Amino acid sequence: MKHIVWHDHHISKEDRAEQKKQKPCLIWFTGLSGSGKSTVANALEQQLYIDSHHTYLLDGDNIRHGLSKDLGFSDEDRVENIRRIGEASKLFVDAGLIVMTAFISPFKSDRDIARSLVEESEFIEIHMNTPLEVCEQRDPKGLYKKARAGIIPHFTGIDSEYEAPENPELTLNTAVYSTDECVIKIIDFLTRHHYIF
Ligand code: ADX
Repeated sequence: MKHIVWHDHHISKEDRAEQKKQKPCLIWFTGLSGSGKSTVANALEQQLYIDSHHTYLLDGDNIRHGLSKDLGFSDEDRVENIRRIGEASKLFVDAGLIVMTAFISPFKSDRDIARSLVEESEFIEIHMNTPLEVCEQRDPKGLYKKARAGIIPHFTGIDSEYEAPENPELTLNTAVYSTDECVIKIIDFLTRHHYIF
């Protein structure tokens, strides 16, 4: 960047993390609309809060009311949406937090960019691989019905592609596991890998 110089802070990420007694990380939920990303991320944040950890949750529908309110659902807009989320998440990780993001994030290359923004050990990709049929049957916002009727074009899983992760750190199917079971599995992962202790 021309004429802009990076300014180092006196207090480092390590200082902020140590104060919070946790290893900051970015837990990146990806999956179809209705696959359980927000539900599980919310329940996870609640449990981490109860356990006195410091967290922040960025959620698709909310971010699209603010930070990304100028963006739609074309491929280019989704790429830009995920770029912004990645950069915002990186700042929250730097702040020492356990960050959760719940976005469809349908393209592998964009998720890989998000991964590359933080340290390799800080990125935890969770694929919510609840089958499309189940997501469509749940249809919590009535959007699949509208997509099938042609009212919402370019809907992920219907007429817009979802690229499944090849090597996610965790895969969870909410048609098989309850929300509580998913949370237990994630907490177990975080404990085993010393993000929380
Ligand atoms: S992403 O593709 O850019 O990652 P994001 O997670 O922010 O998507 O937003 C997805 C949410 O927007 C869905 O859960 C759904 O409620 C809503 N939505 C509205 N239009 C679409 C669409 N065409 N495709 C997918 N989701 C849509």
